Amino acid sequence: MAERWALVENGLPPPLVALLLRVRELAAKEGYSLYLVGGPLRDLLLARPVLDLDLVTEGDGPALASLLAKATGGQVVAHHPFGTAKVKLPGLAVDIATARYETYPHPGALPAVYPGTILEDLARRDFTINAMALRLCPGDDWPLLDPLHGEKDLRQGLVRALHDKSFQDDATRIWRAVRYEQRLGFHLEDGTENALRRDLAYLDTISPDRLRHEVERTLDESQPERAFARAKELGVLAASFPPLCWSPAKGQAVADQTSSGRKAGPLLLLALLAADLTPPQAEGFISRLALPSRWATAVRHTVALRERLGELDDVTLRSSQVYATVARFDEAAIQTVSLLLPPGPAKDHLDRFLSVDRYAKPRLRGDDLLALGVPQGPLLGSLMEELKQKCLDGELTGREAEKEYVLRRLTEAKG
Ligand code: CTP
Repeated sequence: MAERWALVENGLPPPLVALLLRVRELAAKEGYSLYLVGGPLRDLLLARPVLDLDLVTEGDGPALASLLAKATGGQVVAHHPFGTAKVKLPGLAVDIATARYETYPHPGALPAVYPGTILEDLARRDFTINAMALRLCPGDDWPLLDPLHGEKDLRQGLVRALHDKSFQDDATRIWRAVRYEQRLGFHLEDGTENALRRDLAYLDTISPDRLRHEVERTLDESQPERAFARAKELGVLAASFPPLCWSPAKGQAVADQTSSGRKAGPLLLLALLAADLTPPQAEGFISRLALPSRWATAVRHTVALRERLGELDDVTLRSSQVYATVARFDEAAIQTVSLLLPPGPAKDHLDRFLSVDRYAKPRLRGDDLLALGVPQGPLLGSLMEELKQKCLDGELTGREAEKEYVLRRLTEAKG
């Protein structure tokens, strides 16, 4: 079908078109059937950007990947037990997998995988819109295998699970459904939404690492706040970790951050997600998701700083006092807490700390103080600290003023 070739030619970046044609030739020459599948095909049909290729063969996927790597000078990373391989070329990547069928030994377990046909491979997938295959064979007219009517669901904007027990088999699909729906501006098909709501408890069968992976992928969406709002509405947040919540105020915080020209990054979004947890709940959240230490710190600091906001709600506080309370907290945590605050002294203090005071430092360094006659030892440290505080409070402006101050304090100390 000429239209479908036009779709491939115009929908993929030229280096991917060239690679697709190359692997198509190679597969035919070596006797492999080959299909474009999954997200790249879905996005191609939706005229959304496609950045990589996801291919399936009914032969040995890693073996075909090795042949491709040899032919193109690429590097291959194969996972033979799963029949998957990735070929990396400069700026490009292509996944090649052996077509497979899967069975789930029990809910939440990784599936047992067996080589299968392309139709079995499509039937094991999550949603109809991800369960199509474009046959890649020189000389034929780019036929679309669409046994589960994914193209119709793409047209109607529906996220539809392939069968009633799909979320029980693999509850990570609950998060996947939310992401696709919000990313693509789709809706959950009614039966799928009912099954999703019914099967929320199966999220308990998902390991911390797999659950974190889903949350991380959600944080990486271009508008994660939409996915979190929907996850809240569907009960997905509470089923993932009961006290977890998203609110219009958090959505507004993301909008405020975006409108200030700084995109809300994953760490800030995670901190927002966790912001209203108590410290013990935050520890529960950190272990439920097995958060790495950088992320755990942002979460811990966010909830800890929120507990100390009372101390900052005083318009007369000096910068050095704010610094003493706030400086030990992670930047993402301070930003998060500030974004969630209504206008008032605490917010002003945090914003001034973030934009100005955290960078404040005296002009004089330790070496300068030694040159002025300050001895090595505790006095040096405490004078440096005093200088910093005076700079923060605008009491010492300039190198000369700092020198005078140090000499005066030195005389006092000696006297
Ligand atoms: N898949 C599945 N069930 C899962 C994970 C993946 O059926 N729990 C299937 C889907 O067909 C999906 C494909 O494996 O399209 C590839 O997975 P992934 O890369 O996670 O999906 P994409 O659709 O490519 O994801 P995205 O667009 O979010 O990158």
